[in-house]
Amino acid sequence: MSMTRRASLATIATAIAGGLAADAFSFAGADAAPSTEPRQKIGTLEEIRAKGEIAFAYPDANSPARAMLLTNGDVVAYSLICTHMGCEVAYAQETETLTCPCHGSVFDAARSGKVERGPAPRPLPEIAIQSSQDGDLYAVGLSAPIFGRPESIEENQALYGTGDGR
Ligand code: FES
Repeated sequence: MSMTRRASLATIATAIAGGLAADAFSFAGADAAPSTEPRQKIGTLEEIRAKGEIAFAYPDANSPARAMLLTNGDVVAYSLICTHMGCEVAYAQETETLTCPCHGSVFDAARSGKVERGPAPRPLPEIAIQSSQDGDLYAVGLSAPIFGRPESIEENQALYGTGDGR
C-alpha cells in the first residue's frame, strides 16, 4: 500500500470524528518509519491548529524538530538539523521555508524539505506523524538519518541518551 508522509488537517479531523481507531488513520509514511525509531507524542491537533506549528525533539532530546500546518492544510514535520554541517535551521511560517543561519541553506517545507538553496546537499529528514482517535499527534519515524548521527536509534541512544530525560 502506498502512503504519503502528509495529510490535510481537514482529513485528519474527519477521520477522528468518524471514530477511526488510533493509528488506523495515519499520515505517516510507512517507508519513512523504520521500526527501530520511537513513537513519541508531540502535541495535539488543537495545538497545531491554534499555533500553526509545534516544536519538539525527535528521535532524542538533542534533536530539535518542528511540525507545521501549511497553508494548503497539510501537516508536515522535519528535523531541524541542517544536512550541510548540522546547524539548527529556523522555520518561517510566512514563506513555509526553513533557513540555516550558518551558510544560508533554505529548505521548502511544502515540498518534502527539498533544498531550495544550498550548500546543503540533501533535503531535511522528514518526520512521519500519526494521529490518534483523541487528537494526539505522534512522531513515528524519520525519512533519513540526521546529520552527524548514527543511523540506528540504538546507536543514537547509546551516544545521546533515551530522549525522555533519563
Ligand atoms: S550548516 Fe546549514 S548551510 Fe551549512
